[in-house]
Amino acid sequence: MTGTLRVALVGTGSVAHKHADAVAAHPRAELVAVTDHTRAAADAFAVRHGVPAVYDDFAALLDAEHPDVVLICTPPGPHRGQALAAFAAGAHVVVEKPPAASLDELDEMRAAAVAADRQLAVVFQQRTGTAAAHMRALLRSGSLGRPLLAVCDTLWYRGTDYFAVPWRGKWATEGGGTTLGHGIHQLDLLAHLLGDWESVQGRLWRLDRETETEDASTATVTFAGGAVAQVTTSAVSPREVSSIRIDTQKATITVDHLYGHGHDNWAITPAPGFEHEAAAWALPEVEERSDHGPLLRDVFDALLDGRPLPETATEPSRSFEIVAAIYASAAADGAVITPAALADHPTHRRSFASPVDDRRR
Ligand SMILES: NC(=O)c1ccc[n+]([C@@H]2O[C@H](COP(=O)([O-])OP(=O)(O)OC[C@H]3O[C@@H](n4cnc5c(N)ncnc54)[C@H](O)[C@@H]3O)[C@@H](O)[C@H]2O)c1
Repeated sequence: MTGTLRVALVGTGSVAHKHADAVAAHPRAELVAVTDHTRAAADAFAVRHGVPAVYDDFAALLDAEHPDVVLICTPPGPHRGQALAAFAAGAHVVVEKPPAASLDELDEMRAAAVAADRQLAVVFQQRTGTAAAHMRALLRSGSLGRPLLAVCDTLWYRGTDYFAVPWRGKWATEGGGTTLGHGIHQLDLLAHLLGDWESVQGRLWRLDRETETEDASTATVTFAGGAVAQVTTSAVSPREVSSIRIDTQKATITVDHLYGHGHDNWAITPAPGFEHEAAAWALPEVEERSDHGPLLRDVFDALLDGRPLPETATEPSRSFEIVAAIYASAAADGAVITPAALADHPTHRRSFASPVDDRRR
């Protein structure tokens, strides 16, 4: 594709600023129009980012602008409808996590992309950065031996004001609780590193917040490559951390951060007897931190060059399925959920609404 990508954005809330900054940083992309439920929010956003056109509604934007790419930054509920409308209007779509409110909706979005011959890119920016790419390559090459055991923690703190935003904390509008909204980032990085999942057992907890959904969850996830992972997600943890630890036959990989990682956040500790191999595992000299910027840059470059999307923006369903399986397992009192069971699941492809074990006293 020659020229400049004409990019439009729907949902000018908090994450949208990251998208606007990423577009501004790209030499061949331009943010031409925005829209939001709240006109005043869209106007203020347009002024801040120098966007020339603001629309009251998304259909009007698509009709008037025919953008090459639509950035969907709304809450999960509208993702499906907005993606389908964008594909029908001939645009590629970049959608924020979680990509949809349900697995069935994501299937519809993927089918619509194929039918329209457009691309669906998903934003799980934890996959980006030179360190994650390096660790993924090391794990895939087998040079660390087989991955055996993993621990994946998203221990965050969200106060009552956070859940006062009307769409949060409710099955109908957020689709899920802290597992879907927060834990999915680290789970996605874990799955990006370890590959396909094999089984999930999960539990949902309401420990303190006034939410319909869970404010914490615990799960065991097994991967097709053999690894077993213990996954904890929380919105009630004052000392916050996002972390992954993977023990392989030859070393332990760790990453400890909060919302983004650079080389300093990662470490590889060799097992006794494998110290001499550690030099070959060293991180590359050039560092890029994980963020929206590299993800959108690589997506835009791929679209402009007519290349497949980067692996950082494909596979929208892997971590989404693991999250769905945690909900499905919790709804079945911690039963083992496999990919086959999830594919045929009678309820949890449409909605993650599940009973939450209330531990508030
Ligand atoms: N990748 C990340 O690090 C990250 C960080 C935060 C949020 N997110 C995701 O981004 C999405 C938005 O989250 P946020 O925190 O920016 O929310 P937000 O509430 O700050 O912003 C959402 C915006 O969308 C608008 N909106 C809602 N429904 C709409 C509709 N049907 N049409 C047009 N506009 C509509 C709202 O008015 C609001 O301005 C969610 O899916 C969230 O999970 C991702």
